[in-house]
Amino acid sequence: MHLAVRLAAAILSVPPDVLAPYVPMMAPAPRNTLEFDLRNEVDSIMSGPCCRSSSDSAPLFAVSREEVNYVNCDSGLPSADIRLFKSENNELSIPEASTYGEITLLGARQLFHHMGLTSYAKSHPNERPSYQFFDLGSGGGRLVIQSHLELPAVFKSVGIELFSSRHKIAAQTWDDLTQNGDASRIRTLAEKSWGIEENDKNIVSTVDLYEGDLFELDISQATHIYVSSLCFSEDMMKRLAAKIELEGISLQMVASLRPFPSSHNEIKNNNEAIKKRASLGSNPWIEYIEMSWTKARGDGCPVYFYSVKHADKT
Ligand SMILES: C[S@@+](CC[C@H](N)C(=O)[O-])C[C@H]1O[C@@H](n2cnc3c(N)ncnc32)[C@H](O)[C@@H]1O
Repeated sequence: MHLAVRLAAAILSVPPDVLAPYVPMMAPAPRNTLEFDLRNEVDSIMSGPCCRSSSDSAPLFAVSREEVNYVNCDSGLPSADIRLFKSENNELSIPEASTYGEITLLGARQLFHHMGLTSYAKSHPNERPSYQFFDLGSGGGRLVIQSHLELPAVFKSVGIELFSSRHKIAAQTWDDLTQNGDASRIRTLAEKSWGIEENDKNIVSTVDLYEGDLFELDISQATHIYVSSLCFSEDMMKRLAAKIELEGISLQMVASLRPFPSSHNEIKNNNEAIKKRASLGSNPWIEYIEMSWTKARGDGCPVYFYSVKHADKT
């Protein structure tokens, strides 16, 4: 949490959590003018109206042509025109598509900072980049792509999305950026801003975007996982916790919009057949991060951060 918030909370004698939701949304300061330029580049290639089909520029929210009528492009929230959601018998039925929202570009920078992706601990001069960032439920793929463009510490950015139309937008966006050269140009700018020279690069970084169910994805190589789980059921959260603790052998950090149910620990403790390889624990910390649906209000959405522990490591 921001130092200024802690100080203000101490002066007012209230817990920092009380003030956190009211703190204006700010990205961590860029480390130098190159990183400042980098962010401007990313903002300009990733901003635009919310439907790819509505203009030549990249979408603000990567919703598909089918979904665009149901989303307010300024907020990412369901359209204010309630008539769109009325069925023939006049009952209100909001399609699942209308719940689509994304983390903003600024929010992504806050997220990367809190996940510890904006630097790498070098124990050896040639040791880099070491992280694999996974977005489970990657929608239009913009967070995955931004992690590749802005984070030289990440050498693999992976997204998986259930909705075919959203996956297609993600794949198309990535394809466009690689074809027109923006992806490699901006990644090189990011590396320069981190002080990485051309002849220093020894690992080819990649973006992998899959269409499918996140429960089917191999997450054994993921070091950092983000899951925009606001619409996930309690049962999905339990299943996801179980998957992470069984398969997340390389994991360091998980960030989720919903906390994992504390009962996930009890259930597995009673089941001797399940051997945990990673532990999410039950004490996440919370940061407030800008999302498309909070942007208009000027505040953030609580995100739960779990520092993953491994049984075989001290
Ligand atoms: C709110 S969007 C978040 C998009 C992006 N991750 C972001 O934060 O900007 C969540 C996405 O998760 C997808 N999703 C939900 N359940 C899923 C599943 N079982 N497997 C893959 N994707 C899923 C939804 O289709 C939706 O596009």
